[in-house]
Amino acid sequence: MAKSSQEVSRFDAKSTIRDEEASSTSAILGKKPLTFPENPGAPKESKARVISIVNQKGGVGKTTTTINLGAALAELGRRVLLIDFDSQASMTSGLGISKPAIDEQHGSIWHLLNDLNEDVRGTILKSSVPGLDFIRGHYDLAGADSRFASEIAKELMLRKILAPILTSYDDILIDCSPSLGTLTVNALTASDGVIIPMECEFFAVLGLQLVTTTIEKIKAAINPHLEVYGILATMFERKTAHSKDVLELISGQFPDLLLDTVIARTVRFSESTVKGQPITTFASSSAGANSYRRLARELIVRGGAN
Ligand SMILES: Nc1ncnc2c1ncn2[C@@H]1O[C@H](COP(=O)(O)OP(=O)(O)OP(=O)(O)O)[C@@H](O)[C@H]1O
Ligand SMILES: [Mg+2]
Repeated sequence: MAKSSQEVSRFDAKSTIRDEEASSTSAILGKKPLTFPENPGAPKESKARVISIVNQKGGVGKTTTTINLGAALAELGRRVLLIDFDSQASMTSGLGISKPAIDEQHGSIWHLLNDLNEDVRGTILKSSVPGLDFIRGHYDLAGADSRFASEIAKELMLRKILAPILTSYDDILIDCSPSLGTLTVNALTASDGVIIPMECEFFAVLGLQLVTTTIEKIKAAINPHLEVYGILATMFERKTAHSKDVLELISGQFPDLLLDTVIARTVRFSESTVKGQPITTFASSSAGANSYRRLARELIVRGGAN
């Protein structure tokens, strides 16, 4: 049975790591917590920073991170564009678009991939958050590998689509599918950097090597400027030692890549998806919303987001 909000808060009060500490790797691992300026200033570059949210493992928080990091960057005054590059179209539904509307090919990223001469500007939609725009996904993206198998320069399609709008945005975030196929290669080719969300769970650590190897291959072959902006620990469980052990492990293996901001596990994320809103508006003062705000500021300070 679901706990009442009173029961939940009593339970939280007893837990060993408090909410605000749970959002910082350094605090969780017993080091001095990092702080990031509340107002990180204006974007540094006039051209959009393109960031892929990638992990071939499913259900690790890629879509949740794309929507909520995007919303948090928009709150900081950034002009943000999100691209749903996954055939599940969860990002599109998470922004309030209904299934019949997603069925429509015209106006989706799938439509643009199939007609590279179409103007991308005609497909851009406004979300309920000021400054946060998006391009819809489509279920037919599932057929991208076979559809474009014999296409010449197939890994350059998304880069070509985005070229005309790079100066219209400060940050463009791409929600990738849980695979390392044609679409993800396109996303990595079009990107300046990558964020790798990773569930705080032991088997997830093993999969990290595969993502980083793919990124190295893309760097060597097509996109030498591609950078990893960070590994984001998600679904951190405050009440188990396992989550902390996993964090310790990643921090040892990837000391420069593990982001200080940690996203704790909370049902608020699923609830906000059902409502078709980012957590920053659905539960604006929640710990989850504040964690993504902190992530936005950390990325700007690290030179990841613009
Ligand atoms: N920090 C969190 N705490 C609790 N639930 C979360 C958290 N982050 C995401 N979720 C939930 O977990 C599920 C998977 O998250 P999400 O869709 O973001 O993952 P994904 O990596 O995009 O998945 P896929 O690989 O299928 O695209 C969703 O139901 C989402 O609401
Ligand atoms: Mg997803």
